[in-house]
This record gives sequence, structure tokens and C-alpha cells, in this order.
Amino acid sequence: MRSRMSPTHLLLRVKAFFLSLQGKYILIASLLTVFLIATLGYFFVQREEQLLIQQVKEKGKLLAESMAISFTNALLYEEIGLVEEAGLLDNFIADLMRKEELDVVYAMVLDPQGKVIAHNDFTEYGRVYTDPLSRQAMASWHTLAILSSDSDASPQLLHISTPLNISTKRWGTLRIGLSLQRLHQAIAALTRRIALWTAVFALLSLGGVALVTRKMTRPIIDLARAMDQVDLQNYTLPPLPPPRSDEIGTLQTSFMQMLQRLKEAEEERQRTLELLVQTEKMASLGKMAAGIAHEINNPLAGLLTCLHNFAAGHIPPERREEYIGLMKEGIQRIATIVRQLLDYARQQPPAFREVELSQVIDQTLALLDYLIKKKRITVHKAFPSSPFPLEADQGKLEQVIMNITLNALQAMEPGGSLTFRAHTENNVCRLSITDTGPGIPPEILPRIFDPFFTTKGPGEGTGLGLAVSLSLVKQHGGHITVQSRAGQGTTFTITLPLQQRAGRERPLTRA
Ligand SMILES: Nc1ncnc2c1ncn2[C@@H]1O[C@H](COP(=O)(O)OP(=O)(O)O)[C@@H](O)[C@H]1O
Ligand SMILES: [Mg+2]
Repeated sequence: MRSRMSPTHLLLRVKAFFLSLQGKYILIASLLTVFLIATLGYFFVQREEQLLIQQVKEKGKLLAESMAISFTNALLYEEIGLVEEAGLLDNFIADLMRKEELDVVYAMVLDPQGKVIAHNDFTEYGRVYTDPLSRQAMASWHTLAILSSDSDASPQLLHISTPLNISTKRWGTLRIGLSLQRLHQAIAALTRRIALWTAVFALLSLGGVALVTRKMTRPIIDLARAMDQVDLQNYTLPPLPPPRSDEIGTLQTSFMQMLQRLKEAEEERQRTLELLVQTEKMASLGKMAAGIAHEINNPLAGLLTCLHNFAAGHIPPERREEYIGLMKEGIQRIATIVRQLLDYARQQPPAFREVELSQVIDQTLALLDYLIKKKRITVHKAFPSSPFPLEADQGKLEQVIMNITLNALQAMEPGGSLTFRAHTENNVCRLSITDTGPGIPPEILPRIFDPFFTTKGPGEGTGLGLAVSLSLVKQHGGHITVQSRAGQGTTFTITLPLQQRAGRERPLTRA
């Protein structure tokens, strides 16, 4: 399998792995295993080497001691003249050199002065040994086994010496040198085998640890995935891993409890919001009340006059029809205003339907008609030539437009103008509402969406209009932005998705 991962990408993934709990655990565990096995192996090799050297020493000593008797005898015979000089010694030396189980490198006999009287190498005859090792050998009355400590002596040698004596009469010293090359080769082979086993064990334990950590971290990853999948709109839970009685189980339980608390907090927030929405609606109705009363008063006054004239008989019969028409018109006018008022004040059940934005704006403006006329505000509407489909909750949308428009009307001096612009792009609709008011000072701009933030006097402002509007728009999956410069008016832009995602709606009103 060939991967096309770039080196940096690979490096990042490796880094991420070793930063993960799993990676760290695997790394530490395998390092520990390798360290442990290597240490154990090292001590094992050391001990094995000591044991083997000890064995060679024992064998060498045994050999030297057993041969020493023959050598002593030969020297004794020579002294009393039983045999000719050196012949026997040479035979014994040759015997020694032939021993197969030990790698004898040299064998020699020194007389008490250190002079060579027999040697496997004939050129050595007559040479006098005075080096510390030889002096130590000649001075000792026991068999010695000394490792040549000379580090460049390769291969390392084991020097065995044994006195050739009978009681206190000493003829000299037998010395043999044993090569340790074979032993070192065996040790090297052993070391290699142990290293191989260390590698095998390290790999096995790596695999084992990886498997175990994977099994241990799996539930954590599963839980994390479940947490990711929690739908924060509805607080619905994804299928959770089965309950466990270990630490992960505890984590899972706390997670569930936390989610439950979040859900309760969210429900509480929703209830508060509902209250705020309704409060703000009533407050804005209060602001419209005077205007509405006036709107109803006008047709009422007309009606009264008509009735008065009828009662007094001032209406000629040929004009009766005309008067009745006027009275009908007046009553219809009042009925319309009352219906609009009721529509707006009513707590409507939430529902996303296809609405026509332009129409929603007209309906909202109808309620503000009096205020607009009183302040001589000119209203402009710039909409796309053909209506576009928008899925929204009509009641909520009306309330948002009402809040922002009312703010604009309140902010403007008489004679100002109010502009509604709408256009669609990339599945969203943008509605901007621009006024020619004094603008919002930059220092309060970040706070205008805060609940209860108001610059208006008591009875005039609640500070809830924009806070409520923003949360209503957010319920549609949209947002509100504001642009304002002191002295140059203000533009609020409402962005709404044209279609609502299924399941976005959360009931605002509950039984
Ligand atoms: N069009 C606007 N022009 C100037 N200031 C505005 C405008 N809209 C909102 N504001 C400022 O934002 C504040 C908060 O508005 P809002 O939340 O509707 O509360 P309220 O209208 O009850 O004061 C207002 O008090 C006002 O200072
Ligand atoms: Mg307001």
C-alpha cells in the first residue's frame, strides 16, 4: 500500500499520535520494555561470561595441577640424572599443547630464576622472564589463574601457573596460556541472540500495549464522539456507549448530568425569552396606543356626525345611500385597525411558512401609520421586481421589523426618511432598514443588543427591542448587523436564510 502523504503531513500525524494519550502510553510502555529486557539481557550476558571464564579457569587449573606432577617428576629425574636433559619436559609440553578442549596458546617451564627450561616455542629457550606476572607466578606456592589485563592483547589470554615442587623443594613453575577467543565468540553469539529476542519482545509488547491502549481509549473516543454529536438545538442524545462501572463510566454519567443541566438551563432561558418577547410586544403596543386611538377616533367622529344628521333628519332621502356608504367605510376602517392590533398582540403559535417580505413590512407599517404621518417621514421601499420565497415565522418577523422601525421613527427628527431594501444572494435574504436619524455613538454601539440597555427615559424605552429581535432572528438561523455613523443615520441589516433547516424550530410557547 502506498500512501501519498507528504512528509510534513506525515510528520504532523506522527506528532499528533505521540501527543495523544494512546501514543504516549505506547511510547512509554515500549521504551520501558526495551529498557527492561536490554538491562536483563546485559546482566545475563555478564553473568554468563563470568561463569564461562570461571569454567575455563577451573579446567585450566586442573590441567596445570595434574600435569605439574609429571613435570616435577621429570625435573626430579633430571636432577638425580635418571633421564637426559629436557627430553621428557618437551614431551609433556607437546602433550599439553595437544589438549583439545582448551585452547592452549603457550606452555613453558621456568626455573626458580625465571629462565625458560622448556617451551613449546624453541626460540624461547634460555630467555629470562622478569615481568610482574611471571614474578607473581614464581613467588606463589599455589596455582594461579590470571587474566591478562592488557587491553590490546587480542584475544584475551588466561595465564595459569602452578609451582613445581615437592613440599618446600621447588624446581620451578609451570605456566600455560589459554586463549579466550572461542569463549568471546560464544558470548558475542549469545549477545546477538539476546538482542534479537529483545527486539522480538519489544515488537510483541508494542503490539500488545497498542492493542490494550486502543481498547482502553476506545470508550473515551466513543464518548467524545457522542459529545460531538449532541444536537445543542434540541439536546437530543446520540446513541451512547453502554454504561460501565469504571472511570469512563463515571465520565459518561457526569457528561449526561451536565447535558441534563444544560437542557434545563436552556429551557429556563427559553421561558425567560418568551416573557421578554411578550413584554417588548406590549411595550411597543403602548408606544403605538396614542396613534391607534387617533386612527380609530377619526372614523368614529365621522360616524357620530352621520348618525347625528340621520337622527335630526338632515339627510335628504336621495343622499341616504351615500351616507350609509361613508358610515360602512368608517366602520370597516375601525375593524381593520382593531384586527391588525389584535393580530400583532396575539401570541401566535410558532410556525415557519412561506411569507412575502414586502407584505409583512406593509402590515407592520400600517400599525405605525399615525406615527409616520405625524413625524412627516417619507418611506421608501427598494425590493426586487419579482417577489422571492422566504420561509419564516410571520409573527416573529413582524415583531423584529416593528422593533427596528419603531427605534428608527423614535430616533428621527420630523421630515426624515426611512428606507427598506431587500435582496437575495446565496440562499439568504438581506433586509436593511435605514433611517436619517442622529446615528448611534460608537461607545454604545456594542451594547445596543444587550437586554435592558436603553438610552431612552422610563416609559419610553425598555431596552428589550433589539435583544428580543436578535434572538428571534437567531431562531431563524439568521443574524442582525448594524452600521451607524454619528450624524449620518443608522442601517440595521437582517440576514435570514431563505429556507429553514428541518428541526430548527423549537416551540417558544409551551403549555
Ligand atoms: N435607529 C436608531 N438610531 C439611534 N439609536 C438607536 C437606533 N436603534 C436603536 N438605538 C439605540 O439602541 C438602544 C436599544 O434599543 P432597544 O433595544 O430597541 O431598546 P429601547 O428602544 O427600548 O431603548 C436604544 O435605546 C437606542 O439608544
Ligand atoms: Mg426599541
